[in-house]
Amino acid sequence: MMSLAEIQALLTGDDPTLFSRAHAMQREVWGDQVFVRGIIEFSSHCIKRCHYCGLRRPNGRLRRYRMTWEEVERIARTAPHLGVGTIILQCGEDPALSIPDLCRTITRIRRDTDLAITLSLGERSEDELRRLRDAGADRYLLKLETTDPRLHARLRPGQSLRQRRRALETIQRLGFEAGSGVIVGLPGATLATLAQDLRTLAALGLQMLAVGPFIPHPHTPLRDASPGDGILSLRATAVLRLLCPTAHIPATSALAALPEGDALRVQALRGGCTVLMPSLTPEQVRADYAIYPGKNRLPASQAVELAHATIRRAGLVPSHGRGDCLRRPPCTTPLAACA
Ligand code: 5AD
Ligand code: SF4
Repeated sequence: MMSLAEIQALLTGDDPTLFSRAHAMQREVWGDQVFVRGIIEFSSHCIKRCHYCGLRRPNGRLRRYRMTWEEVERIARTAPHLGVGTIILQCGEDPALSIPDLCRTITRIRRDTDLAITLSLGERSEDELRRLRDAGADRYLLKLETTDPRLHARLRPGQSLRQRRRALETIQRLGFEAGSGVIVGLPGATLATLAQDLRTLAALGLQMLAVGPFIPHPHTPLRDASPGDGILSLRATAVLRLLCPTAHIPATSALAALPEGDALRVQALRGGCTVLMPSLTPEQVRADYAIYPGKNRLPASQAVELAHATIRRAGLVPSHGRGDCLRRPPCTTPLAACA
């Protein structure tokens, strides 16, 4: 495992070979394939108050929606025809979410398609997670957001890093392929914070890792903060690729929300990233899933086309496959091999 000082040196841009080394590692494991995962953002309701996020409950300016399960299933059935091998069902922390209904939808999607199903529902009880896994969900995403306990507590009122880590451990123990990640450039975070974030993420034996820049949202307490640095986000993903050769790492949608975002995502795919995640959320509501400004600016069909074009611009090939992690959970990659 790299030391914190070594990681921090890479993050400052000291090593001109960082991106080419990360890209070589990515190709060694995944060849020229990049996987397209379609996100269905099925509810924008959230009871939490994360300071950075537009879905936070106190944001009264947001139009809230919940899609019907029929609509979720209909979109999932179209996904394979768009070249999408995985769907991600995502929502805010919505207490009205019916786990039995979601289980039924998962089972139907499994019956009707070959899609892998990823969930991103925030923190749920162990019993709920087990039922979702039994219904056929393959993967679960739960970002740590920041691994600095004080920053975590400050920016995520009423929540703690320790509780978040425990929730992630439960997800792993239940046999999901598990993903996590952090936000780059949260106000109060330093380069040392980010180096620590990457080391912590790399030590968790995760199958998916995500790092995206902070994008200030006008209707949140962080409205006047500066956005995260795009190039620093790219360096962070490249470091993660070196630390975790077999994990999947997306070129995040938040990168695309920065100026020159499309070019940044091409660069990301040439610096360790193996996944793009266009939103398949329907036109009537997709702009309302406003985690940050610039999210879902394109219609769904164009978002998928842009993902394919981005992959080709990077000289890589869009894969229609599920892109399962090469190591089934629990991830047995010895830490030494991840160094
Ligand atoms: N900028 C960038 N990413 C954000 N997220 C939430 N708010 C922002 C923001 N302002 C990310 C978090 C969360 C996911 C749903 O979106 O990582 O887990
Ligand atoms: Fe809710 Fe997630 Fe946004 Fe926090 S980051 S307010 S939990 S949707």
